[in-house]
Amino acid sequence: MKKNIGIVTGGGDCPGLNAVIRAVAKASAKRGWGCVGILGGYEGLLEPRQTLPLDYQALSGLLTRGGTILGTANRGKFAAKVGHGKKRSLPKELLDGVKAGMDALGLFALVSIGGDGSLSIAQQLHQHGVPLVGVPKTIDNDLEGTMMTFGFDSAVACATDALDRLHTTAESHNRVIVLEVMGRYAGWIALYAGVAGGADVILIPEIPFRYGSICAKIQEREKLGKKFTLVVVAEGAREKGAAFVTAGAKTKIGEARLGGIGAVVSAQIEKRTGKETRTCVLGHLQRGGSPTTFDRALCSMFGATAVELIAAGEFGKMVAFTSRGLGAVNISEAVGRLKTVPPNGNLARTARALGISLGD
Ligand code: F6P
Repeated sequence: MKKNIGIVTGGGDCPGLNAVIRAVAKASAKRGWGCVGILGGYEGLLEPRQTLPLDYQALSGLLTRGGTILGTANRGKFAAKVGHGKKRSLPKELLDGVKAGMDALGLFALVSIGGDGSLSIAQQLHQHGVPLVGVPKTIDNDLEGTMMTFGFDSAVACATDALDRLHTTAESHNRVIVLEVMGRYAGWIALYAGVAGGADVILIPEIPFRYGSICAKIQEREKLGKKFTLVVVAEGAREKGAAFVTAGAKTKIGEARLGGIGAVVSAQIEKRTGKETRTCVLGHLQRGGSPTTFDRALCSMFGATAVELIAAGEFGKMVAFTSRGLGAVNISEAVGRLKTVPPNGNLARTARALGISLGD
């Protein structure tokens, strides 16, 4: 009988999910295995089960297609995060439900593509005896164990493009423009895009900021004849001693939805400097669309390596991109804590060396 593996995508979508699905399905086919996509996250394994056969025809066009053809869920029955750094243990019925779903569908292994939340679920499933491997996905790049997650490069490209566009309009109008980017509690997108897009001020969660410092940078530029300033602020950045700025109420499972810091920072800059200041919130543009060239290659490597791990019986592992190339780490090492920006790391030091203010 033909052996089948299942692929499940969980959490927020990001560019490259379909490219990983394609790579897993193609590499499986080479080994004579079939592939089945689970629709709507892990819930697709529960009754009534929802799946999509990933045969040769189904893979056309997936390398460049944004989103996920399998759909995803980040706040359903399987939500494993209940707030900043807090994990939830899934009830045994759900874990058993996944096993039963795999048996019913004839799956001998699962590839779980996800970020911190979905891989926390994967870790619990692994401990419960489900044979699976993980693939690190998130635009936030905040997973430990891998130097880079897929989707991150595409989000940075989107934010950098936005900065290039904001640059010309800010300069034409002698304005300050504040660009708010995603990233949750990590400043990777803000810092990479800020440096690549020539921002003057970059505010990240890892370095609490002071308005005095931001305004001093704007005034220093004025004196040098630069009448405009670009500020990038990560959604999780906050003033020293202040709370995170959140958009609306907490979700049902208690995780805060970050957002709104851009407008708060803009208002303070305008009030303190008297300079006309505008805000641009990039939002879900960072998650949509086609993956970059780098992400397409990374997704292809991740997918192929995930299949190699399954073939070697290396369950409970996550594919990782390391300084030595592709490798694997235990999923438990990747989800234990968030990988945040080192405040004195290469990129932060580079930013400072170039005269960019980090707001401290
Ligand atoms: O984790 C990816 C991410 O895009 C974060 O950067 C952001 O805080 C969050 O998801 C937004 O989630 P949602 O799409 O549920 O609003």
